[in-house]
Amino acid sequence: MIENKDTSLEFVNKIYKYIRNDMPIETFASKFNFSISEITGIVELCNLYGKNVSIDYEENNAIFKKNFTRRAVTSKISIDDPKLNHNQICVVSDTHFGNNHQQLHLLNNVYEEAYNRGIKTVLHVGDLVDGNYPNRPENPRQQFLHNFDEQANYVIDMYPEIDGMTTYYILGSHDETHYKNGGATINNIVTRCRKDMKYLGQDVGEISIDKVKILLDHPGDGKSQSWSYKPQKRIEILESHQKPKILLIGHYHGSYAFSYRNVQCVMVPCLCYKTQFQQKKGISNAVGAYFLDIYSDEKGNIQYFEPEEILFSEKDRWYEADKDKKKVKKLEIKHGQY
Ligand SMILES: [Fe+2]
Ligand SMILES: [Fe+2]
Repeated sequence: MIENKDTSLEFVNKIYKYIRNDMPIETFASKFNFSISEITGIVELCNLYGKNVSIDYEENNAIFKKNFTRRAVTSKISIDDPKLNHNQICVVSDTHFGNNHQQLHLLNNVYEEAYNRGIKTVLHVGDLVDGNYPNRPENPRQQFLHNFDEQANYVIDMYPEIDGMTTYYILGSHDETHYKNGGATINNIVTRCRKDMKYLGQDVGEISIDKVKILLDHPGDGKSQSWSYKPQKRIEILESHQKPKILLIGHYHGSYAFSYRNVQCVMVPCLCYKTQFQQKKGISNAVGAYFLDIYSDEKGNIQYFEPEEILFSEKDRWYEADKDKKKVKKLEIKHGQY
């Protein structure tokens, strides 16, 4: 084991995020200032926390391997079947741009990780911006961007932009306040200015990836005590023609993945700090994202599905209201930059 080094879960999460499949161990060692002999301890530590990492040797080079345990939906088809389609996508939600407690630095972190993994598709499940609530007197105090122009322009100027990567998004309850206040829709201006951001709908949207139907859903009600209860109800009320293979639910700022009635359901965590409202009501707030590993047949039926939960710890989040808006730059990666 490693001596005189940090062995906390926060540290493990940090290094696990950095480690990529096929990354030479020297790259990692120089970044974190470890000797090569200490790397074995790092691998042990990751495995202690349930992160399956190993070292492999290819052409005399020692490289990392991240081994995800895949959940078999059916035992009939082997994962090695060349006829299966394999897709990896990233899912984010509830960025609430303009709120004092937005966490753009964590959104950037997730996009950078997606880029490192070669992911081309990101889905955003609503509440891009914090909106505007004229009937809530406390609202202006909680935001550094208040009106439609400020928040919409911030999405255009600051949302991560990576060559070859497309973000598909729906609008949620907070985005919709701008429509309710004066008929303004974020998607209208974002579509004109950001070719890498594609709008799928207000509250609900659908996309198919290799015929795998994915439904993005942003409800409008409050969260229940049990994180699984509301998603189960969402699946039960789906019309049969609407029923997707994967259901992604935003809005609840919770994190939960389960399979129910042949639907793979993921409640997607948010990327903002706990709001004053949540604090007062004692509502929990999960900050993170998901990476989905999907193997499907030619008809779009899922054969293997692995939802990888990324949760940011308290240390990763910035509470100071000004820090994120002042310090964080737009994440922009051009082809061949890395
Ligand atoms: Fe939200
Ligand atoms: Fe919402």
